[in-house]
Amino acid sequence: MSLVNIDQQKCNQDSICVAECPARVLLMDSETGYPIPTPDFNDYCLKCGHCVCVCPTGALSLDWLRPEDCVSVKQDLTVTPQQAEQLLCGRRSIRVFKEKKVPRTLLQKLLEIACCAPSAKNRQPWHWVVVQEPYEVRRLAAMVIDWMRIIIKKNPEAAEVMGFTRTVAAWDDGHESICRGAPHVIVAHADKEWGFGSEDCTLALSLLDLYTTSIGLGACWGGYFYKAVNAYAPLFEALGLPAHHLAFGAIMIGFPKFKYHRIPVRKRPRVTWK
Ligand SMILES: Cc1cc2nc3c(=O)[nH]c(=O)nc-3n(C[C@H](O)[C@H](O)[C@H](O)COP(=O)(O)O)c2cc1C
Repeated sequence: MSLVNIDQQKCNQDSICVAECPARVLLMDSETGYPIPTPDFNDYCLKCGHCVCVCPTGALSLDWLRPEDCVSVKQDLTVTPQQAEQLLCGRRSIRVFKEKKVPRTLLQKLLEIACCAPSAKNRQPWHWVVVQEPYEVRRLAAMVIDWMRIIIKKNPEAAEVMGFTRTVAAWDDGHESICRGAPHVIVAHADKEWGFGSEDCTLALSLLDLYTTSIGLGACWGGYFYKAVNAYAPLFEALGLPAHHLAFGAIMIGFPKFKYHRIPVRKRPRVTWK
């Protein structure tokens, strides 16, 4: 099969694939009237799969993606605006979890959803560490506290501003407010040289976060956790991250112990209409 394969029986020559290609590496062949790749196709194709997925007749295949490999968009599954609003606004950071591990199949599903996030140049740069054992989450949380104690000693003012003093005092008092007693933590990491690692990983974790609600799970960003991963070598090593990577986000996952009945009020949009 060539790089771009057009089934001429199916192609209706509507040039939608050409119009939609974000990299402009498809054009309509003036002789045949069918789409063809530009000479620089290989250099600039983002591998986003849009051309395959936007074609109404399934006429276009790439050597790595055929229409039949893609999940169909099912019209009857389109969410209503009200459902979308409840999903997006009703998501909460969950901080009280049941003492129950999440089956690995569900954790895997979360990662598959996360990987559907947009990423700059469709790089999909994220890598994942899933901490599967609750005792390991606890051990790693204790390392975050070790790091905080170091900062408190070195720079008590900064530690106070960042809330470390209170967090460590709470820990010493028996409150685990680093990972909140969650059975699992998922860390997103990427090559530190990639300029959009932070945005890409944040978006992926955000999709994952939103999806948890639909499958009865709860999540909470672990801000202290991933900051500590990058700042504290023993924690970085304990997670086994490659030296040229940075952690760009961490999220705690588990089954929520409680249910929310209301959606809190947020600040109104601060907007300048031009
Ligand atoms: C980047 C980031 C870091 C966060 N870090 C923590 C954290 O370390 N611990 C925690 O309990 N919540 C953390 N949160 C959750 C926020 O406190 C929470 O989103 C906010 O209070 C609003 O609540 P909601 O998510 O339920 O709407 C973090 C959120 C973000 C976006």
